[in-house]
Amino acid sequence: MKILILYFSKTGHTLEAVNATAEGIRAAGSDADIVEVHDFEAAAVAGYGGIILASPCWSGSVTPWGVARPVLRALDGLQPDSLKGKRCGGISVHSKMGGKTTVKCLGNLLSGKGCEDYRPGPAAKAGVPFSLWTGPSVGAQDEERFKDYGAEFVA
Ligand SMILES: Cc1cc2nc3c(=O)[nH]c(=O)nc-3n(C[C@H](O)[C@H](O)[C@H](O)COP(=O)(O)O)c2cc1C
Repeated sequence: MKILILYFSKTGHTLEAVNATAEGIRAAGSDADIVEVHDFEAAAVAGYGGIILASPCWSGSVTPWGVARPVLRALDGLQPDSLKGKRCGGISVHSKMGGKTTVKCLGNLLSGKGCEDYRPGPAAKAGVPFSLWTGPSVGAQDEERFKDYGAEFVA
């Protein structure tokens, strides 16, 4: 199965999670393409069996949404049924807390585009509040969680 991992990352930490997830997918024998949201063309999803959205937690600790705006904008171009029949996932990173809210919200967004099979992934700690600068990386244990998630996603 070929998987699209669509991500935004201001200071690089979500990308760390994305790379680990892709490593897990590839180790399990599937293909993963990593696409930054600004390079995303909605028509491309037709070529994938699954899509994983990756967003840093933006206000997920204080609001019921928490997805980074560039990720929201990237989804605008998708038709409401464009993810029908596709396996979907979501992952996040946060500096303190709220990433689980982000992962939940990513599922709601994907459902709004026709996804009926959402598999929520990990949310891990990395970075600093408000992403003012590059902070601590995703830890080794969390990297393993993302790898395991990637492998399970394509099982
Ligand atoms: C607008 C904004 C809101 C944020 N809100 C939260 C939050 O609610 N909880 C939290 O733990 N971190 C929050 N952060 C910090 C990021 O989630 C954290 O720095 C993350 O590691 C950034 O990932 P990135 O390097 O992929 O952009 C916020 C950052 C920004 C820019």
